[in-house]
Amino acid sequence: VDSKTGQLLALHEQAAKLYHHILVNTEMGQPALDYLHDRGLTDETIETYQLGFAPGQRLLKPFFDQRQSDYQLLRQSGLFIENAQGELRDRFTERVMFPLRNASGHVAAFSGRLLKKADDQPKYLNSPETTLFNKSKLLFNFDLARPAIRQAGEVTLFEGYMDVISATQAGVKNGIASMGTSLTTEQIYAVERTTDKLNVCYDGDEPGQRAIDRALRLLGQHSHLQLSVIQLPEGQDPDEYRKAHGDEAFRQMLVSAKEPPLQFQMRFLRRNRALETDSERLAYVNQVLPLLAQVKEPVELDMYLGQLATEFQIDKSALTAQLKQVQRDSA
Ligand code: GTP
Ligand code: MN
Ligand code: MN
Ligand code: MN
Ligand code: MN
Repeated sequence: VDSKTGQLLALHEQAAKLYHHILVNTEMGQPALDYLHDRGLTDETIETYQLGFAPGQRLLKPFFDQRQSDYQLLRQSGLFIENAQGELRDRFTERVMFPLRNASGHVAAFSGRLLKKADDQPKYLNSPETTLFNKSKLLFNFDLARPAIRQAGEVTLFEGYMDVISATQAGVKNGIASMGTSLTTEQIYAVERTTDKLNVCYDGDEPGQRAIDRALRLLGQHSHLQLSVIQLPEGQDPDEYRKAHGDEAFRQMLVSAKEPPLQFQMRFLRRNRALETDSERLAYVNQVLPLLAQVKEPVELDMYLGQLATEFQIDKSALTAQLKQVQRDSA
């Protein structure tokens, strides 16, 4: 760690402490603290994640000015916005602050969530990319989760920070999330060095389902991880599920809603299709066969072919013949 990196990390550490102090100890932070409590987070969880609040006024700038912090360092930290005159103002205002720690456990960036919906502002605002923060590399909670991942022998990948935090509060400590953008190969390689099993547990809405499909393809291409999907009920995300059903039901759901990737992919390809018509059914079968062609276990393959044959009243030997054709074409 060179001294500039060390100084930037120290700046982030101080900012995290200050945001956290504002949240838990001040009048200004009370609405944000109420908000987090309403969302079902305990003080212990708020402490664990050093959640904070950036109020709607100047906070960091005067704080660091008092400490005679270096102007160039402040500029490069990403914590400020610079105007045409080169003056710095706090980037985060009126937001609940989530410190983003790197794999070594040091705060490298922040994500700030709006307290109230606003049409002209993003729900989550992240720090810009800096020398400390590369959003395609950072995995939320990876530092805290690593021992739990090793112990459980598997990792669960969530979509959002709140899903990971919610899971931790329910006692499920092996959760991580990517930075809202889709999963990257760098993140996959980092995970693969820690475990060989990964569960994808994204939101039960259309964007979540599409993101599962994308993640499975990327994971299949770039890793040897043993994959599962945890399918949430329609329209719910993991955090909403815990809020609605409680910790115990949440933990059970993570086990009972687990399915093989192929099962998910078949359902995913079926959705929005009018399978009463022959052409749609044929199109569906033609999309599924290339996926089945990758199944290595003969018994498992036979099971899926049987399912397909029964569901679409297609002769199983015809399906098998067509599968062989697909396998030949892709070989
Ligand atoms: P809550 O509404 O607080 O429960 O968040 P969520 O995690 O359920 O949000 P959502 O499912 O909409 O999005 C999942 C993840 O995408 C979030 O945790 C963020 O990492 C990211 N994300 C969501 N909205 C934004 C946005 O407006 N800007 C950016 N940069 N990221 C976002
Ligand atoms: Mn504290
Ligand atoms: Mn979502
Ligand atoms: Mn969500
Ligand atoms: Mn949510």
